[in-house]
Amino acid sequence: MYLTGKNVRKKENFNKDWFFIHEKDDREKGERPVTLPHDWSLEYPFDEKAPTCGSGGYVIAGKGTYHKSFCISPGEEGRHIFLQFDGAYMLTRVWINGIYAGKHVYGYTPFEWDITELLKKDGSENIVEVEVDNSAQPSSRWYSGSGITRNVWLCSVNPVHIPFGGVWLREKNVTEKQALLTAETRVRIPDGQKGKVYVETELIDPEGVSCFREKSGVQCAESGAEEIELVFCQDFTVEEPCLWDTEHPWLYRTVTRVYLEDRLQDEQENVIGFRSAVFDSSCGFLLNGVRTKINGVCVHHDGGCTGAAVHPRIWERRLEKLKKMGVNAVRMSHNPPDPALLDLCDRMGFLVMDEAFDEWRILKGKELGSNTHESRGYSEWFDQCHEADIRSMLLRDRNHPSIVIWSIGNEVPDQTVEEGRLTARRLKAICRELDGSRPVTQANDQICAEPRAAREDFLEELDVVGYNYVNRWRTRAETMYDDDRRAHPEWCMIGTENSSPGGVRGHYQMTVDEKAGWWTHPYYTAPVEVGRVLRFTMTHDYVAGDFMWTGVDYLGEAHWPARSSSAGVLDTCGYEKDSYYFYKSIWNREEPMVHLLPHWNLALEPGSIVQVLGYTNCDFAELILNGKSYGKKAYSYPAYGMTQRYGHYDREPRAVNTDNLFLSWDVPYEPGGIELVGYRDGREIARYTIYTAGAPAAVRLAVYGNGLAADGMDVCQVEAELVDEKGNFCPLGDCELFFTAKGSGSVVGVDNGNPTSHESMKADHIRAFAGRAYAVVKSVGKVGECVVSVSSAGLTGETVSVRFG
Ligand code: GAL
Repeated sequence: MYLTGKNVRKKENFNKDWFFIHEKDDREKGERPVTLPHDWSLEYPFDEKAPTCGSGGYVIAGKGTYHKSFCISPGEEGRHIFLQFDGAYMLTRVWINGIYAGKHVYGYTPFEWDITELLKKDGSENIVEVEVDNSAQPSSRWYSGSGITRNVWLCSVNPVHIPFGGVWLREKNVTEKQALLTAETRVRIPDGQKGKVYVETELIDPEGVSCFREKSGVQCAESGAEEIELVFCQDFTVEEPCLWDTEHPWLYRTVTRVYLEDRLQDEQENVIGFRSAVFDSSCGFLLNGVRTKINGVCVHHDGGCTGAAVHPRIWERRLEKLKKMGVNAVRMSHNPPDPALLDLCDRMGFLVMDEAFDEWRILKGKELGSNTHESRGYSEWFDQCHEADIRSMLLRDRNHPSIVIWSIGNEVPDQTVEEGRLTARRLKAICRELDGSRPVTQANDQICAEPRAAREDFLEELDVVGYNYVNRWRTRAETMYDDDRRAHPEWCMIGTENSSPGGVRGHYQMTVDEKAGWWTHPYYTAPVEVGRVLRFTMTHDYVAGDFMWTGVDYLGEAHWPARSSSAGVLDTCGYEKDSYYFYKSIWNREEPMVHLLPHWNLALEPGSIVQVLGYTNCDFAELILNGKSYGKKAYSYPAYGMTQRYGHYDREPRAVNTDNLFLSWDVPYEPGGIELVGYRDGREIARYTIYTAGAPAAVRLAVYGNGLAADGMDVCQVEAELVDEKGNFCPLGDCELFFTAKGSGSVVGVDNGNPTSHESMKADHIRAFAGRAYAVVKSVGKVGECVVSVSSAGLTGETVSVRFG
């Protein structure tokens, strides 16, 4: 029974009790119960011939149908009932009791229908059927997943109500002393409604204290239209607001109440933050007036083994790690994300670039890893859908304090043609109309490209010019933003996307592989080019910052046998790669750290020379192998200049021996213990040791997830690593691991971070890769203990206990 409460606005989660069948399945046997969000693409084997190609991760797509029966509790007569989808990929059609309710195309934007007229509201059974058609392939340049991949809600409101995105909260003139808040509320009323409508807005501070309430009223008037929309604007002054920033993301709440005369009709809560965010052609980016370098990462939407159906806990763990790395910003490449991810960014203090599209009118190739050279996708729908899609992104997202910039596209080929400028202008105008406060960018990869570059008049349309791979063309490999800076000193500039060292966790290519092409690097060259872009970005204030590609490995955009990209600094399990520590050493200069690579179980003859890399934010680091020092080294960033008078330095200048952002030693290989010791002010302050490990003897478990809900949806994440009998981590360990969960949870996904693994991610067992594996355990909907165990033939397993509810 749905919509049972007494609240004026009821919004109930509609994820449970669905049945699903894929067109490939046998009609008789194939139908199965599912809980949403659901992504069927990972439920079938990876297949080199799959229509999604390497772009989509070599998975099946096709068409699937869902149905569910449900009853509406009596008492809803006279109210409006909406069925709301946070997202479904893609081309979704919905029927209620056999009657067509509507269609939505884009897989990344929310949609809803007023289904009031199609429902039985007397307590008898209703049937909803949803067809999701992802057959037009390849459709995305990355793994899209297939199905109702985000939450679904059933919502009921009175005839006098706030529509989707109807509360718009705008902060202005924000300082530590004062901020102005304008609350604009749209209220729908049926035509012919008599009486006076009031809107009351209440602001509640981060400690839960009500700061103020204000009520304004308007007399209803007849218009002849079926429904009328009233717009209320209320201005408030907030004294000494707690400002939202990336370290102290203070959040306020607003409660908007709508009254008809003295009867409460609707009530909605929103979360806001007071901050000023300004892009500037000289200073780059200012958060609350303070120059802040954007140290950002791009991410795709998938959650690894959960596919496109991602519980926010998965993102929470990934974001916690990225935060520790020093990341302060996330680019939602290349589509509006699940709204829960934006909530996390608000709460955890990440700046966000919210992006609408990867494709406008001109089709982009998606045939990576296939011979068919066919490509489908959003460009087929752009003319028909773009306006509604970008509107829904802005209406849904514009109250988020984390969002500081809108991106209307990524690398759209339209940047090189006259018509592209007009499209950009139109998209920007919609952003302006729905949110005058944030600038608009597009991520351009064709700036000064040959033979056809992005048009200057296209770039002129953008408030902030976004550069993808700024160092790609000719001398820009050295000069980067500088040529454009001189030609257009008034442009605001940002690195919307640049390479990270990425790489496969625990894998160390020793030499240049001529056959594989210039883009496959030995491990010791990977940070060189990245370091150059990084240092330019950090030392040029006019560059607002950079979003590197990518924070996390993602499914798709791969060549068989790989089925996922290894661009991330975290793998698909969320495990840190070496490149994670490279950024950490530069972006997080507070917490002293040292890290070294490669591992020390190398298949080399003793005495072979190995290049050992060191990442540190200490003054010096010393490499020690089996007790023997190979010397202290330091790199030049940040180089100290003199201050106050000639010959004076605030800190003791370091004797640096590299101009890179990392250290390197040539060491004769010898199994044993290798360590890097970091020094600050002459004292040891950090140490990292790796031992040559023996054969795997045991599996160790760690669990991520506190305060788990017994709601049938929450997940805990299980980290497994192989160790030898002395407890040393085994970097080559690849034993098959079996996970079991008993009690209140069940295993719903496994992964090992290996981009070329074709093992099922929906099983309860997987081989460890580079010593690690990972499992996701989901609540089965009952309160109690969940006992999670891991076992492997011949190894000592481990058991841990968590609690759902
Ligand atoms: C960029 C593009 C990304 C991804 C990346 C791969 O050009 O914007 O979506 O394809 O290249 O390296």
